[in-house]
Amino acid sequence: MAWKHPRMSRQDPSSWDENYTSGDFREKWHREHPSRELVTLVAAAMVPSGAQVLDIGCGAGTETIYLAIHGYRAIGVDFSPEAIKVARQRAQEADVTVDWRVGDALDLPIEDGAIDFAFDRGCFHHVPEEDRPRYAEQVARVLRPGGRLFLRGFDPAGDPESPFVPVTEGAIDRAFSRERFARGPVEVFEPADEEDPRIFMGVFLTRL
Ligand SMILES: C[S@@+](CC[C@H](N)C(=O)[O-])C[C@H]1O[C@@H](n2cnc3c(N)ncnc32)[C@H](O)[C@@H]1O
Repeated sequence: MAWKHPRMSRQDPSSWDENYTSGDFREKWHREHPSRELVTLVAAAMVPSGAQVLDIGCGAGTETIYLAIHGYRAIGVDFSPEAIKVARQRAQEADVTVDWRVGDALDLPIEDGAIDFAFDRGCFHHVPEEDRPRYAEQVARVLRPGGRLFLRGFDPAGDPESPFVPVTEGAIDRAFSRERFARGPVEVFEPADEEDPRIFMGVFLTRL
């Protein structure tokens, strides 16, 4: 399967909905397995046992469900109601409880200070530069002090055809203020496999 991604309006849930109703998401970005990075964090007990976790832009919920299976109290948020429908069905099949919420990353339907660990695989890189400070504000609001966001997204490295808004060190620093977050290094992750040449950038941000 070659890596493909739709060109779509970035903040329009309906274009995402279409991909979930047609099933096209499976070919375009979905993976049945959680990322190696997240699995490693869990294996190394970097996410405290029983923590309240939040998957931002959870899509069909692969990573949310993985954390629920491992005993975490998991919330999955996506602004596509159709994504949440698919995710809910998959959680039922996996026989796990997840708190699914339809909502925008720029206005998270989450209580203040409720989250120990938030993560994002592939949502932030669709958020336009001008909206990113608001994304960061929302994360700062919902994370408890000391809570962490693990963020992954692409750096299309100047490709004018790319639908992705770059995730780079500069972009992270413009969005996440140093008054509210401590940032770790922005790391490059290897492609998941030969058929999926995506190279994710990843960063930890700790709520001060
Ligand atoms: C590329 S998919 C990744 C889905 C999932 N995280 C995964 O790894 O399979 C991006 C997801 O982010 C959601 N999304 C994009 N912008 C969003 C926003 N502003 N608020 C909430 N969800 C958003 C889309 O509906 C879509 O499900």
